[in-house]
Amino acid sequence: MDGEIVPWESATVHVMTHALHYGSSVFEGIRAYSTDAGPCFFPLEAHVDRFFDSAAIYRMQLPFDRSEMRNACHAVVRENRLEAAYVRPLAFHGYGQIGLNPGTAPARVVVAAVPWGSMHGKAAIEHGIDACVSSWQRIAPNTIPVLAKAGGNYLSGQLIHMEALRNGYHEGIALGPDGTVSEGAGENLFVVKNGVIRTPRVSGSLLAGITRDAVIQLGADLGCKIEEATIPRETLYTADEVFMTGTAAEITPVRSVDRAPIGTGRPGPITQRIQQAFFGLFEGTTPDRHGWLETVHAEVAV
Ligand SMILES: Cc1ncc(COP(=O)(O)O)c(C=O)c1O
Repeated sequence: MDGEIVPWESATVHVMTHALHYGSSVFEGIRAYSTDAGPCFFPLEAHVDRFFDSAAIYRMQLPFDRSEMRNACHAVVRENRLEAAYVRPLAFHGYGQIGLNPGTAPARVVVAAVPWGSMHGKAAIEHGIDACVSSWQRIAPNTIPVLAKAGGNYLSGQLIHMEALRNGYHEGIALGPDGTVSEGAGENLFVVKNGVIRTPRVSGSLLAGITRDAVIQLGADLGCKIEEATIPRETLYTADEVFMTGTAAEITPVRSVDRAPIGTGRPGPITQRIQQAFFGLFEGTTPDRHGWLETVHAEVAV
């Protein structure tokens, strides 16, 4: 926290913290996987870059540089002796003067590490989840920048996710302002039809997911036809396969949308190949061709 390793109970902030009142924070979610070489980050550099991009969009001056942020991520996994971890870097405007202007409240930076299984649970990875199209749309361009992973954006995700849970689904899928498919509450979305894998374009009111990028690459490595496209809502009901991706959700098959089964109602063959290629990176059965893995340093360097 602010450059020091502190005990969990001491990682606290004042109630007048700007970000608590106005959502003025940016953050990341990064996984370190357990591998034969010890815990390994899955692309740490890409996450640190997105963290700095999010801060730049909000003109938030970070008191640490990229290599210090990377070292802090290594340090929290190492110091907590975690074999696998979900790492949460967070930068937020602290306490300055009351009022909207974040400039009076300097940015503070925290990196936390916790053990966390897959977002929707182990069974979801194996059998898939039931999703619904949300009555809440994603944030429109020129309202709040969606490419920034900012705390305030997640009010949208909370509404989408809570509505889905209330109605007996595991997750909600949001449409963008143009009525086409955007993404899940906290995941990107892929649709498979006649052997072609499609995912909404980055301009479609979604977070440019790092797992999404990796899946596009893994799909191409497997020889699949994979493309970014505009995805009409009704395509969800006629798809052969649908799956979601994210650092937290990993590769989660979707077995139904709005109670309509997808394909056979079980994870399809292409989803399973993508899952095998993805998890194989950590199990050692998929070569790390793109240099995504980074072993957690033995030495703590903050
Ligand atoms: C809204 C949203 N979309 C997509 C994703 C997936 O992004 P990533 O693969 O970088 O974790 C996330 C998770 O970070 C998210 O919160």
